[in-house]
Amino acid sequence: MNIRRMQDLDLSGKRVFIRADLNVPQDDSGAITDDTRIRASVPGIELALAAGARVMVTSHLGRPKEGELRPEDSLAPVARRLSELLGRPVPLVRDWVDAAEVAPSPGSVVLLENCRCNRGEKKDDEALSRRMAALCDVYVNDAFGTAHRAEATTHGIARFAPVACAGPLMAAEVEALTRALAQPRRPLVAIVAGSKVSTKLTILKSLASRVDRLIVGGGIANTFMLARGLPIGRSLAEPDLLEEARSVMAELAAKGGEVPIPVDVVVAPAFAADAPATVKAANAVAAGDMILDIGPKTAATLADLLRGAGTIVWNGPVGVFEFDAFSGGTRAIAEAVAESSAFSIAGGGDTIAAINRFGVADRVDYISTAGGAFLEFLEGKELPALAALQARAAA
Ligand code: 3PG
Repeated sequence: MNIRRMQDLDLSGKRVFIRADLNVPQDDSGAITDDTRIRASVPGIELALAAGARVMVTSHLGRPKEGELRPEDSLAPVARRLSELLGRPVPLVRDWVDAAEVAPSPGSVVLLENCRCNRGEKKDDEALSRRMAALCDVYVNDAFGTAHRAEATTHGIARFAPVACAGPLMAAEVEALTRALAQPRRPLVAIVAGSKVSTKLTILKSLASRVDRLIVGGGIANTFMLARGLPIGRSLAEPDLLEEARSVMAELAAKGGEVPIPVDVVVAPAFAADAPATVKAANAVAAGDMILDIGPKTAATLADLLRGAGTIVWNGPVGVFEFDAFSGGTRAIAEAVAESSAFSIAGGGDTIAAINRFGVADRVDYISTAGGAFLEFLEGKELPALAALQARAAA
């Protein structure tokens, strides 16, 4: 992908505006419950500081109303955590868009308050974008997690800043996804799981043309089982999408690929952590059963398939892994991904939670910090933030 990279630029003494994705989960008291995105943004900030840049960092947090800054919208907890991680003060600047000068002295950093509180941010307003661009000499987009949004700090500013480039996290995310999908070592195996076919239909269709094996899981697998004529009892499924499921299976089959359908499943009479779990053959699911996980035979077959893969792309747990009795399938997948010599990439909140729960994070080659942007990349959609950087590189 043709984009300029921050590492290749001379940043000494320059006013560098870094758009990061510091949109982290918080509990009711505002405490950060997972700082992965802040930690992932640190290398880009450190690089700019080490180069002697005058560093401004901003991010959105949540989905606030533009034009106001409620206490819960503030990046204050993020500034504190960032300051701990960088081992230096990180002053938080409010009302920064119209300030005459917000860039600190060379080799210092400030955090600019929640950019989504600025009027015009979400609509990618040109006047706002130009005002922000005037604050910097170099615009750095290091927010892959927000690359699917065409907003003023992710898109508009890239058009007007003197220089626009990608930060190291953005570059690494794009490189990992491109390596997995554009130039994959074969066989390429994708795992797409989740509750509904409808929310991931475009991904399934887009991957069907590119992958060699497409492992489906969760409610998505139930719909595929139904399409194969298997009984699924009271399990979550979308009967109106059976034709779509059949066409995905047919596309894979036509090129010698496959959508492996479970041969056994774990069922329960109800969706509950303490519901009794029973392993059944896939053709023996009873009318009152709910399928909450794949069975051990299926898990073993899929694990073998993953061990033999050249590239693995993983989005979504294959069962209700939050409940111990229904976590075996996802655990087996996680362990097989970890053991496989394939280049593996995973993304999405539930997938990362599963990876952490089963302790395999350090054995997955690349874990994306993105949710929606990861999915849109899998769908083959153009990401506006990347398109803006590409356009500047080509100009
Ligand atoms: C995310 O959490 O996926 C990104 O930070 C984007 O957030 P958004 O969906 O509110 O744009």
